[in-house]
Amino acid sequence: MIQTTSEIRQKFLNFFYTKGHLVVASSSLIPNNDQSLLFTNAGMVQFKEVFLGQERRNYKRATTAQRCIRTGGKHNDLEKVGYTTRHHTFFEMLGNFSFGDYFKKEAISYAWELLTSERWFNLPKERLWCTVYETDDESFKIWADYIGIPYERIIRIGNNNGNIYSSDNFWRMGDTGPCGPCTEIFYDREFDIDDSSPNIFQKDSDRYIEIWNIVFMQFNLQANGTIKPLPIKSVDTGMGLERITAVLQHVNSTYEIDLFVNLIKSIIKVIDVDNSTNKSLSVIADHIRCCSFLIADGVIPSNENRGYVLRRVIRRAVRHGRLLGTKEVFFYKLVAPLIYVMDSVGEYLKPQQVYIENILKKEEEQFDKTLERGLALLDEELANLKGNTLSGETIFRLYDTFGFPVDLTADVCRERNFKIDETGFREVMNRQRKRAREASCFNNPLVINISSVFKGYNCLSLHTTVQLLLINGQQVEKITVGQEATVFLVETPFYGASGGQLGDTGIFTNKNIEFNVIDTKKYGKAIGHIGIVKIGQLCLGDHLYVHVNKIRRKRISLNHSATHLLHSALRQVLGSHVVQKGSSINDKYLRFDFLHFHAMNPQEIRKVEDIVNLQIRRNLTVTSEIMDLSTAKKKGAMALFSEKYDQHVRVLKIGDFSIELCGGTHVRRTGDIGIFRIRSETSTSVDVRRIEAVTGEYALEEIHAQSQQLQEIAHLIKANRNNINKKTYELVNYIRLLEKELQLLREQRIKQEIKLLIKKTITVQNTKLLVSEFINVDLKTLRLLIDDLKNKFGSVIIVLATITKNKVLLIASVTQDLIDRINACELITSLAVQVDGKGGGRSDMAQASGTNTQALASALASVKEWVNTRL
Ligand code: ALA
Repeated sequence: MIQTTSEIRQKFLNFFYTKGHLVVASSSLIPNNDQSLLFTNAGMVQFKEVFLGQERRNYKRATTAQRCIRTGGKHNDLEKVGYTTRHHTFFEMLGNFSFGDYFKKEAISYAWELLTSERWFNLPKERLWCTVYETDDESFKIWADYIGIPYERIIRIGNNNGNIYSSDNFWRMGDTGPCGPCTEIFYDREFDIDDSSPNIFQKDSDRYIEIWNIVFMQFNLQANGTIKPLPIKSVDTGMGLERITAVLQHVNSTYEIDLFVNLIKSIIKVIDVDNSTNKSLSVIADHIRCCSFLIADGVIPSNENRGYVLRRVIRRAVRHGRLLGTKEVFFYKLVAPLIYVMDSVGEYLKPQQVYIENILKKEEEQFDKTLERGLALLDEELANLKGNTLSGETIFRLYDTFGFPVDLTADVCRERNFKIDETGFREVMNRQRKRAREASCFNNPLVINISSVFKGYNCLSLHTTVQLLLINGQQVEKITVGQEATVFLVETPFYGASGGQLGDTGIFTNKNIEFNVIDTKKYGKAIGHIGIVKIGQLCLGDHLYVHVNKIRRKRISLNHSATHLLHSALRQVLGSHVVQKGSSINDKYLRFDFLHFHAMNPQEIRKVEDIVNLQIRRNLTVTSEIMDLSTAKKKGAMALFSEKYDQHVRVLKIGDFSIELCGGTHVRRTGDIGIFRIRSETSTSVDVRRIEAVTGEYALEEIHAQSQQLQEIAHLIKANRNNINKKTYELVNYIRLLEKELQLLREQRIKQEIKLLIKKTITVQNTKLLVSEFINVDLKTLRLLIDDLKNKFGSVIIVLATITKNKVLLIASVTQDLIDRINACELITSLAVQVDGKGGGRSDMAQASGTNTQALASALASVKEWVNTRL
């Protein structure tokens, strides 16, 4: 009997459950507090601190089915996805973990039992091969002597090109962090192919596929390339759910497992295609998984970092939809079938289904628009092209700005007999990729390995010591006057920007030094103070007196506490679907983004404002308490959907009104906030609303400013507070009346102009030619004139010009009967050159603009001769 993907996932978790492992939920795709990763790309990510011995859990064995993404950043398979048998952007990694508990022997035995036992996966033993790290005799012996695998099926793998710790069998999380030797298990598919080279395990082989990686976490890789033993020896394993399913279901490709077969069936229904083997279907199936889970974990399409990866994946999917022939917006329609095929994991998406659909729909609609705009740009570029090859830069611009795939550009060019510089495009693309890689390099290995103690909840100044100095990411021993650097202290009262709250500013001093802190940031467990040396020089190990800018911190705290009040008030007024989507809290105002499906009306805004102000007047006490996550959740503390929290969390309570998980700084009593005022309510993307609000003296200032504005307007329109509405209404009506009159006058003027123009018309070889210049007339009026004149004459060549704002504007128009001989576009180009400008258009109507106003008269004088030679 074929086991489904869902059953296989569950079987894996059950197996390890019976071996005393706690089944832990998958963490978010966005790694929390880890600057070194773009996306969660392995099961061990949520346990990184536990492996490093920096965090303790009350369990020593765990098992997970972790949602992972390997696209963007280090692992980038996007181009391959859909075209190979096993590349995916999104996949689930099954894993078991031991934190200082069992080690090699048990880890290998568990894997063997699960894979081969009749009760579990029941794979034929003779089909399994394994690899071990070259020097790992212990693992070799376990496989050979304890498990009983024949020697020839155990392969030792060494370092790549002799680079120490760089091997397929030495797993490392990144350039620094937990690492160790690993042993991998391969499955021999006995394909009828000749693929028996000795190095099969080091490359993508179709016959031998890697199914499980068991890592023995023993070391911490340092920035200088050396390794230090970890305090505890641990195990981290990873098995791709889709791959093991393909093996157990005896299919050649992960796209042929039940989950994908069903998903692709739904796609075929939605898109209505008849070729079910089309690769584009696999691309779309992969991408809907990636995009839906990314959005559920809080990513929105944008032009940078995670948002950009999401955007590219959506666009790639949409384009493949177009390749399959669909003209309609379709991608969002796949969320429902996805939830269905993903079964228990799909449940995770359910509460956000509508939200995900809206984002996908909007992005596809927007891409359709850029497709059109991209085509327009391409038209223009081709019209002005010198030579017949479109440059790499232009192809890249189309690709980058308009999301325009290079093959589409190539198609359009081919139709018009242009070539494209594809090599040039690749070069520009590579340069851009390199820049993007550098920019997305969040991490600094020097910083990842240190930590700072935050003391700033209760104190704003203290004595402490410098533990690390960085200039442009490079470690230095000292910094001197004028130099900008990032300083790391052993203890600090400075709050490092996080949870939406801005970092603190302030000053470090001792008798020889003054250092101005202009910002504070959090890097994992370290807090960096960015600033400039004002006096003296600051050295590693210096003792300092450091103090936070108190007034600024106080203002920030008012805004932070007000944000919590706002959050609860919004849920009261709009409903409990309101969840926080982001916030930004500084000393001047607060910004709060939340999920809500339409704009708030003025009554709702007023109500929210009133509720918050009431809580301020109630002068509630603000308290914080550290407790474990489950107790906090039981108490009803609001948490962010996509955030990963530590086991012990800080819970912030505002009287009986609000309870949230929060690491930020707050007021002692709500009365400190003074006043709360909403400044604006807008939207940032589909279904995400944004409120900006002010507190304390800024709120007072806002109120003063508004009443002053009102007074000024009243003064201007000669009204007072009692009759300002009526007066404004009357004024608006009066303006409308005037506009109508003005329009009438313009039309009359045109009629008069036409009479004069008719008189100015000359005849060149029996053809009427009218050339005339106007002072300060807009283009619209010129076009109206031309229409009227063409009607009057029936057959005529017209050139009208005007100078406005020091620029020459020219329009040329030719009636249909003459365009064989006189092409308006050619005519305007000949004039554009003379006034140092450029122009274009159709053969019957074209326009140009130029900067050389002096040359206009002679340009106009040249028209007669130009026409004469062509008639
Ligand atoms: N962390 C290991 C991997 O990703 C198991 O392969």
